[in-house]
Amino acid sequence: SMMREISGINETEEKLKQALGLEDVVVVQGDSDKEPWVKNELGRACAVRMKAALTGNNIIAVTGGSTMAAVADVLTPDISAKRQLLFVPARGGIGEDVANQANTICAKMAERTGGKHRVLYVPDQVSPEVYKSVVNEPSIKEVLTLIKQADIVLHGIGEAMTMAERRKTGKEEMEKIIRGHAVGEAFGYYFNEQGEIVHKVRTIGLQLEDLHRIRHVFAVAGGASKAKAIKAYMNTKPESTVLITDEGAAKQILAWR
Ligand code: F6P
Repeated sequence: SMMREISGINETEEKLKQALGLEDVVVVQGDSDKEPWVKNELGRACAVRMKAALTGNNIIAVTGGSTMAAVADVLTPDISAKRQLLFVPARGGIGEDVANQANTICAKMAERTGGKHRVLYVPDQVSPEVYKSVVNEPSIKEVLTLIKQADIVLHGIGEAMTMAERRKTGKEEMEKIIRGHAVGEAFGYYFNEQGEIVHKVRTIGLQLEDLHRIRHVFAVAGGASKAKAIKAYMNTKPESTVLITDEGAAKQILAWR
């Protein structure tokens, strides 16, 4: 639109696409660190992109976090007109507060769009023994099968230390995250600046390698404080990922070039 041209957003998107080697990015105005409403704008942009990706019967895997919660807040029934949407949590609970848990967010997304949802009640940090028995539990198996069939993924990206602290990560793992110079986190994986995995929270559900098979992946994260995290995650070369971010993060990433 005219507004976007005047404000230079289109140019910022182009530059960011090149800087991060992505095929598609969306930049919304503002900085979500400073103005809370910017998160809702991220949510709206995500909703528009998601709507365009819907084909009929879609399974949408969703992660937790306040940004994903903001996406849920702005969804409306018209998004799913004449469509069957099923929302599933991408991974087992990874230590978020209830409002920011993928289970809660999926329920809200389903409610707001007139779709369906499934829950995945598994703790974060499952031991190898629990993991083996839990994945064979019929109700969990069913959800895991649905997650594997997802054709759309919506996920957040977080700053590594913020996430490690928010999850009340234990001492040993904390040291691993610090020693590995982690700067970003997504799906329970912690990344260094090069995009290498330095730590992984062991839980069931979507794994990073599964993303390659998924047609539409939307990464939604904004705020200058997440610039390093976003850049690091994009270094993992997530081919089909569309980044939805804000000017706060975009300008910081571009300033480093
Ligand atoms: O814990 C789920 C999660 O999606 C993380 O993978 C991510 O780092 C974080 O939430 C983002 O949270 P927020 O949107 O609140 O910054």
